[in-house]
Amino acid sequence: ARKVGSKKEKTLALIKPDAVTKMGLIIEAILDSGFVISKAKMVQLSRTEAMDFYNEHQSRSFFSDLVSFMTSGPIVAMELIGNEAVTTWRKLLGPTNSSTARSELPQSIRARFGTDGRKNAAHGSDSNASAARELEFFFPSSTGYGPKNTAKFTDC
Ligand code: TYD
Ligand code: MG
Repeated sequence: ARKVGSKKEKTLALIKPDAVTKMGLIIEAILDSGFVISKAKMVQLSRTEAMDFYNEHQSRSFFSDLVSFMTSGPIVAMELIGNEAVTTWRKLLGPTNSSTARSELPQSIRARFGTDGRKNAAHGSDSNASAARELEFFFPSSTGYGPKNTAKFTDC
Protein backbone atom coordinates (compact mmCIF):
# COMPACT_ATOMS: atom_id res chain seq x y z
CA ALA A 1 0.00 0.00 0.00
CA ARG A 2 1.16 3.52 -0.75
CA LYS A 3 2.42 5.50 2.25
CA VAL A 4 0.99 9.01 2.63
CA GLY A 5 3.47 11.60 1.41
CA SER A 6 5.69 9.11 -0.41
CA LYS A 7 6.67 9.84 -3.99
CA LYS A 8 6.78 6.72 -6.16
CA GLU A 9 9.10 6.98 -9.13
CA LYS A 10 10.70 4.67 -11.66
CA THR A 11 14.35 4.36 -12.56
CA LEU A 12 16.55 2.15 -14.72
CA ALA A 13 19.09 -0.12 -13.06
CA LEU A 14 21.69 -2.03 -15.06
CA ILE A 15 23.90 -4.79 -13.76
CA LYS A 16 27.01 -4.36 -15.89
CA PRO A 17 29.05 -7.23 -17.44
CA ASP A 18 31.54 -7.35 -14.53
CA ALA A 19 28.80 -8.03 -11.98
CA VAL A 20 26.29 -10.26 -13.77
CA THR A 21 27.65 -13.31 -11.90
CA LYS A 22 26.75 -11.50 -8.65
CA MET A 23 23.24 -10.54 -9.68
CA GLY A 24 21.62 -12.48 -6.83
CA LEU A 25 23.38 -10.36 -4.21
CA ILE A 26 22.67 -7.14 -6.12
CA ILE A 27 18.97 -7.99 -6.43
CA GLU A 28 18.94 -8.80 -2.70
CA ALA A 29 20.33 -5.32 -1.94
CA ILE A 30 17.74 -3.72 -4.26
CA LEU A 31 14.86 -5.54 -2.55
CA ASP A 32 16.25 -4.83 0.95
CA SER A 33 16.07 -1.12 0.05
CA GLY A 34 12.35 -1.43 -0.57
CA PHE A 35 12.26 -1.34 -4.38
CA VAL A 36 9.90 -3.38 -6.48
CA ILE A 37 11.55 -4.81 -9.62
CA SER A 38 8.76 -4.26 -12.12
CA LYS A 39 10.61 -5.27 -15.32
CA ALA A 40 13.80 -7.26 -15.91
CA LYS A 41 15.75 -8.79 -18.76
CA MET A 42 19.23 -10.00 -19.64
CA VAL A 43 20.59 -8.65 -22.92
CA GLN A 44 23.83 -8.26 -24.84
CA LEU A 45 24.31 -4.74 -26.21
CA SER A 46 25.71 -4.17 -29.68
CA ARG A 47 28.36 -1.45 -30.10
CA THR A 48 25.80 0.81 -31.76
CA GLU A 49 23.33 0.32 -28.92
CA ALA A 50 25.95 1.03 -26.23
CA MET A 51 27.05 4.18 -28.08
CA ASP A 52 23.41 5.30 -28.28
CA PHE A 53 22.75 4.57 -24.59
CA TYR A 54 25.84 6.57 -23.51
CA ASN A 55 25.64 9.26 -26.23
CA GLU A 56 25.97 12.05 -23.62
CA HIS A 57 29.59 10.86 -23.15
CA GLN A 58 30.50 10.55 -26.86
CA SER A 59 33.16 13.29 -26.73
CA ARG A 60 34.82 11.99 -23.55
CA SER A 61 38.22 10.27 -23.67
CA PHE A 62 36.82 7.17 -21.93
CA PHE A 63 33.92 6.70 -24.39
CA SER A 64 35.33 3.89 -26.54
CA ASP A 65 36.65 1.97 -23.52
CA LEU A 66 33.24 2.38 -21.89
CA VAL A 67 31.49 1.04 -24.99
CA SER A 68 33.92 -1.92 -25.19
CA PHE A 69 33.29 -2.74 -21.54
CA MET A 70 29.50 -2.47 -21.82
CA THR A 71 29.50 -4.82 -24.84
CA SER A 72 31.95 -7.33 -23.31
CA GLY A 73 29.17 -9.60 -22.01
CA PRO A 74 25.53 -9.80 -21.00
CA ILE A 75 23.95 -7.14 -18.82
CA VAL A 76 20.76 -7.19 -16.75
CA ALA A 77 18.30 -4.30 -17.17
CA MET A 78 15.65 -3.65 -14.52
CA GLU A 79 12.90 -1.13 -13.98
CA LEU A 80 12.77 -0.22 -10.29
CA ILE A 81 9.76 1.35 -8.58
CA GLY A 82 10.30 3.04 -5.24
CA ASN A 83 10.21 6.22 -3.19
CA GLU A 84 12.29 8.82 -5.02
CA ALA A 85 13.68 5.92 -7.04
CA VAL A 86 16.26 7.94 -9.01
CA THR A 87 18.06 9.38 -5.99
CA THR A 88 17.49 6.36 -3.74
CA TRP A 89 19.07 4.01 -6.30
CA ARG A 90 21.97 6.41 -7.02
CA LYS A 91 22.68 6.54 -3.25
CA LEU A 92 22.62 2.77 -2.98
CA LEU A 93 25.00 2.57 -5.98
CA GLY A 94 27.57 4.86 -4.36
CA PRO A 95 30.28 6.93 -6.10
CA THR A 96 31.03 6.26 -9.79
CA ASN A 97 34.54 4.98 -9.05
CA SER A 98 34.42 1.69 -7.10
CA SER A 99 37.75 2.45 -5.38
CA THR A 100 36.36 5.75 -4.14
CA ALA A 101 33.15 3.97 -3.15
CA ARG A 102 35.12 1.52 -0.99
CA SER A 103 36.61 4.37 1.05
CA GLU A 104 33.54 6.63 1.13
CA LEU A 105 30.55 4.23 1.17
CA PRO A 106 31.73 0.65 1.76
CA GLN A 107 28.19 -0.78 1.93
CA SER A 108 27.30 0.58 -1.51
CA ILE A 109 26.80 -1.64 -4.56
CA ARG A 110 29.78 -0.20 -6.41
CA ALA A 111 32.02 -0.64 -3.35
CA ARG A 112 30.94 -4.24 -2.87
CA PHE A 113 30.79 -5.50 -6.45
CA GLY A 114 32.80 -3.15 -8.70
CA THR A 115 36.51 -2.83 -9.43
CA ASP A 116 37.53 0.67 -10.56
CA GLY A 117 36.41 3.81 -12.37
CA ARG A 118 35.00 1.90 -15.34
CA LYS A 119 34.16 -1.58 -14.09
CA ASN A 120 31.73 -0.37 -11.45
CA ALA A 121 29.10 -3.12 -11.34
CA ALA A 122 25.92 -1.17 -11.98
CA HIS A 123 24.20 1.84 -13.55
CA GLY A 124 21.47 4.18 -12.39
CA SER A 125 19.63 6.93 -14.26
CA ASP A 126 20.73 10.40 -13.07
CA SER A 127 17.37 12.21 -13.35
CA ASN A 128 13.72 11.52 -14.01
CA ALA A 129 14.18 12.63 -17.62
CA SER A 130 17.11 10.20 -18.04
CA ALA A 131 15.06 7.46 -16.41
CA ALA A 132 12.21 7.97 -18.89
CA ARG A 133 14.61 7.87 -21.86
CA GLU A 134 16.61 4.90 -20.55
CA LEU A 135 13.53 2.86 -19.60
CA GLU A 136 12.13 3.40 -23.10
CA PHE A 137 15.51 2.30 -24.53
CA PHE A 138 15.49 -1.05 -22.71
CA PHE A 139 11.73 -1.57 -22.38
CA PRO A 140 10.10 0.02 -25.43
CA SER A 141 6.38 0.49 -25.02
CA SER A 142 5.70 -1.22 -28.35
CA THR A 143 7.70 -4.24 -29.48
CA GLY A 144 7.46 -6.62 -32.40
CA TYR A 145 6.96 -10.40 -32.43
CA GLY A 146 6.50 -12.24 -29.13
CA PRO A 147 4.95 -11.65 -25.72
CA LYS A 148 4.25 -8.05 -24.75
CA ASN A 149 5.09 -6.77 -21.28
CA THR A 150 1.69 -5.76 -19.99
CA ALA A 151 2.47 -6.41 -16.32
CA LYS A 152 1.04 -3.72 -14.06
CA PHE A 153 2.48 -2.74 -10.68
CA THR A 154 -0.10 -0.31 -9.40
CA ASP A 155 -0.04 -0.84 -5.63
CA CYS A 156 3.62 -0.87 -4.64
P1 TYD B 1 29.13 8.89 -15.52
O1 TYD B 1 27.80 9.18 -16.15
O2 TYD B 1 30.02 10.04 -15.25
O3 TYD B 1 28.97 8.09 -14.12
P2 TYD B 1 27.68 7.36 -13.50
O4 TYD B 1 27.65 5.98 -14.06
O5 TYD B 1 27.95 7.36 -12.02
O6 TYD B 1 26.47 8.17 -13.87
O7 TYD B 1 29.93 7.87 -16.44
C1 TYD B 1 29.26 6.78 -17.06
C2 TYD B 1 30.15 5.57 -16.93
O8 TYD B 1 31.34 5.77 -17.67
C3 TYD B 1 30.60 5.26 -15.51
O9 TYD B 1 29.66 4.49 -14.79
C4 TYD B 1 31.88 4.53 -15.73
C5 TYD B 1 32.42 5.10 -17.03
N1 TYD B 1 33.52 6.05 -16.80
C6 TYD B 1 34.80 5.71 -17.20
O10 TYD B 1 35.05 4.62 -17.73
N2 TYD B 1 35.82 6.62 -16.99
C7 TYD B 1 35.60 7.81 -16.41
O11 TYD B 1 36.56 8.61 -16.23
C8 TYD B 1 34.26 8.17 -16.03
C9 TYD B 1 33.97 9.52 -15.39
C10 TYD B 1 33.26 7.25 -16.23
MG1 MG C 1 25.84 9.00 -15.60
